[in-house]
Amino acid sequence: MSKTPKLSVKRLYKTYRTENGDTLVLDGISFDVHEGEFLSILGPSGCGKTTLLKIIAGLLEADSGEVLIDGEEVGLGHSRVGYVFQQESLFPWRTVRQNIEFGLEIRGVPPEERRRLSDRMIDLIKMRGLEDHLPHEISGGQARKTEMARSLITEPDILVSDEGLSNLDAQTRNYLQEEFLRIWQETGSTVIFVSHNVDEAVFMSDRILILSNVPARIIGEYVVDLPRPRVRASTGCLQYRAKILDVLRVEQEKALARQGP
Ligand SMILES: Nc1ncnc2c1ncn2[C@@H]1O[C@H](COP(=O)(O)OP(=O)(O)OP(=O)(O)O)[C@@H](O)[C@H]1O
Ligand SMILES: [Mg+2]
Repeated sequence: MSKTPKLSVKRLYKTYRTENGDTLVLDGISFDVHEGEFLSILGPSGCGKTTLLKIIAGLLEADSGEVLIDGEEVGLGHSRVGYVFQQESLFPWRTVRQNIEFGLEIRGVPPEERRRLSDRMIDLIKMRGLEDHLPHEISGGQARKTEMARSLITEPDILVSDEGLSNLDAQTRNYLQEEFLRIWQETGSTVIFVSHNVDEAVFMSDRILILSNVPARIIGEYVVDLPRPRVRASTGCLQYRAKILDVLRVEQEKALARQGP
């Protein structure tokens, strides 16, 4: 018998209902993620990626379908998923260390234990010396690493990152991709990584799911069968890139055809 997946998403449907009408966003999404796997999700803007992550993380309720972690159904408000948000979400009035310790504080972990755990995180993200700085006193890349540490400190079963590395210059982004991979390997966490960037997904993932335009359905799945550490411009990476860009291009053309001339 095969091992229970770390995460199972089964037939998720979600419609947003507003005064201006209803929008079906998730159209029966199902997939599994295995323990320690690095899964990326790629899809056009507005297709439903953030909606999907929020449902997985228990921040939003689906209309129907199930999310299972280690074979057990989880619902709204569960806390087994660490979330790196699409928008910067550090508290501006808290120092780096106080931001990292936030999740422990709300769980009532005593100060000495919080300090021991945040020390470990500060070392993991290599930000020793910056722990007493406020968010406006660190760089955008350092802020992203602080957000990662804040999500990891409670040792979530699964870490989801919603375009956690966007809006950064290419060099910082490449550096943080490598840092993210190092942290993933050191912590052994299971990762779901939403990205707009095909190269990034190929460089980082064990497997990539491709979503259609809204309403989101899974229209492609690639197991990235390349050894690590990967070389960005290697023939292997470029071959996956070409295949995935093809699927996304066809999807884009369909959307344009629907809009008409
Ligand atoms: N609270 C809401 N109420 C109504 N519609 C919403 C709401 N949140 C999102 N939507 C709509 O649902 C669709 C999916 O939104 P979502 O944020 O999940 O997309 P996304 O794939 O994350 O997009 P992006 O790549 O731009 O971040 C969009 O068309 C959006 O306009
Ligand atoms: Mg989004």
